[in-house]
Amino acid sequence: MTDIKEKIKQLSKLLTTWEYEYYVNNKPTVSDEEYDITLRQLIDLEKKYPQFVTTDSPTQRVGGQASKQLAKHTHITKMMSLANAFSQEELRKFDTDVKKQLGKDTKEDIEYCVEPKIDGLSLSLIYKNGHLSIAATRGDGQTGENVTANVKTIKSVPLSIDVKDEIEIRGEVFLTKDDFKKINNSILDEEDRFANPRNAASGSLRQLDPKITAKRHLTMYCYQIPNHKDFKTQFDVIKFLKTNHFVTAKDIFLCRNINEVWKKIEYFSNNKNNFVFPIDGVVIKVNNLADYDKLGRTSKFPHWAIAYKFPPNFAKTTLLGIDATVGRTGRINYVAKLEPVLLDGSTIASATLHNADYILAKDIRIGDTVEIFKAGEIIPKVVGPILSLRKKDSVPFKPIEVCPICGSKLEKQENEIDQYCVNASCKAKLVRGIVHFASRECMNIEGLSDKIIEKFYVNNIVCSIADLYTLKDKKQEILSLDLHIKEKMFTKLINAIEKSKKEDLDHLIFALGIRHVGSITAKAIVKEFKNIDALMDASLQQLQNIHDIGDVVAQSIINFFKIDSNKQLIGKLKKFGVNCSAKENKTADTNSPYYQKVFCITGSFALPREEIKRILSRKYDCKFTNSVTKQTNYLIANDFSSSKFKKAKELNIPIITNSIWD
Ligand code: IVH
Repeated sequence: MTDIKEKIKQLSKLLTTWEYEYYVNNKPTVSDEEYDITLRQLIDLEKKYPQFVTTDSPTQRVGGQASKQLAKHTHITKMMSLANAFSQEELRKFDTDVKKQLGKDTKEDIEYCVEPKIDGLSLSLIYKNGHLSIAATRGDGQTGENVTANVKTIKSVPLSIDVKDEIEIRGEVFLTKDDFKKINNSILDEEDRFANPRNAASGSLRQLDPKITAKRHLTMYCYQIPNHKDFKTQFDVIKFLKTNHFVTAKDIFLCRNINEVWKKIEYFSNNKNNFVFPIDGVVIKVNNLADYDKLGRTSKFPHWAIAYKFPPNFAKTTLLGIDATVGRTGRINYVAKLEPVLLDGSTIASATLHNADYILAKDIRIGDTVEIFKAGEIIPKVVGPILSLRKKDSVPFKPIEVCPICGSKLEKQENEIDQYCVNASCKAKLVRGIVHFASRECMNIEGLSDKIIEKFYVNNIVCSIADLYTLKDKKQEILSLDLHIKEKMFTKLINAIEKSKKEDLDHLIFALGIRHVGSITAKAIVKEFKNIDALMDASLQQLQNIHDIGDVVAQSIINFFKIDSNKQLIGKLKKFGVNCSAKENKTADTNSPYYQKVFCITGSFALPREEIKRILSRKYDCKFTNSVTKQTNYLIANDFSSSKFKKAKELNIPIITNSIWD
């Protein structure tokens, strides 16, 4: 028995060292396979001998049980914020104030510790007897949320340290810019995507299920040890953190005076885009910790530190031209072609102008000197022209009237700002339309990725939705082309396409890409019209009579089926055997309290959201909305910080936290 206990201890230690080398030093010393095999050994042993599982075992990072709600944690000392400086002048005033408060001469130097201001969320870690005991978010500064189970999944946070006394460590949890992009790309509904890396980090940390946090690859950089008398300077604190296996930002500088501080700020400003983590400024801290009490604080922030915030990212350049692109729904997006200009570390040659109304309202003209803006990860945008620099011969912008790709006349509905190409055969719309048709929430053709569709289109293999169903006849052609598609993959794809023929009618209707017809409208349509022919023959009046369908949607359906190519598409789909009729709803559980109810979902779950919707709508014939309204009957939640959750609470809407789809 003691052998087993010893073996568990050894494996634990080995894995902890490897994790440290991988996540902290960025220098892996073993292969991923070796790590995985060893972790598996440890998991198996611990399963057999649970009495030997220690709280700091690497297996404890995988994530424990999901909790119903995050518990509150009252901070030992308030987690404060920082005052901001937006200019060199404000920074120098901070230095003068510090000297005044410390009774020093203005010519004397103050030593500062200068650190990058990481754009994440602050976290407090409490270690007791050398073990991570509590991890809590800042919350309102006094009370935060206990996120210990989640933080244990963050590999850069040591589960145990060589310090026996109780100690609190504070730092910033964040997502690298790359991981932020990856997470956002994996979220299907645009409106559910995170606005910036900080929100994404917060959403990932404040999960009820630690397994979800574990998947998000959060990192923590530590920078503070409050209430500790053993350290003389902030720089010593950083050194202590490093030697005790906490991760700190690499670029932390000790500056002898405010002039040196300014040089470092310039360094951070010039390099801010080269950091893998998001940085929104520089934190300047008085280095001598004994001065902290003398300097004092307001109720919100201390007087011993300040955050220098980078100025917003504006640049001036010439507008060389205005292009128009066509989206899946045919929506026209105007794009500015710019004289390339350096902004926030990258060269910008194009920026969004949204729609024609935006350009007209701002009177933006080709040849104008325009101001462009970029905030964080957001796409650059043209703010407006600098009228004083306008050339005399400039002419007002004229919106395009025909589709730049297919030449058909653009449409703009009353009270709408966007113009649309309504030709279903428009090439630009086709590629995007095929991607939509094949997507999980439509015909669910597994393996037919955007990239493959693009390749098929370029090689003239699939030029329309209907062509998908002739793919099986083009096997030799596809395999002979250099598309990286092998026989096995091809067979899988064909099977998925065949399977899609059995999809429900509402999925097909949504898949067609009729403007304004989303998945909910498609479901409402199917309740009235039991097959596609009935829908095609429907009058405006009949459509308007459907509950949930307004005049604009009804008109859009009529317009769609007026177009010959759309009618032909339906004919072809029928010929290929694609299901065009509503199935009798035999499977729905009519006795369930969820039967035909309206659901909204917030947070991430083990199953993709679209899969959850698919299962539930089969099981309960229910509907889904993207936001919580009075009409919502239930909110399925795994994110208790979201606005949907707050709204549901406000409206007293029942919240479901268990996986009712399992
Ligand atoms: S020190 C009294 N150091 O910035 C506050 N904060 O705007 C002590 N932050 O709440 C914080 N990087 O979440 C400190 N190197 C750094 C930081 C940092 C980012 C965050 C922190 C703080 C916020 C204030």
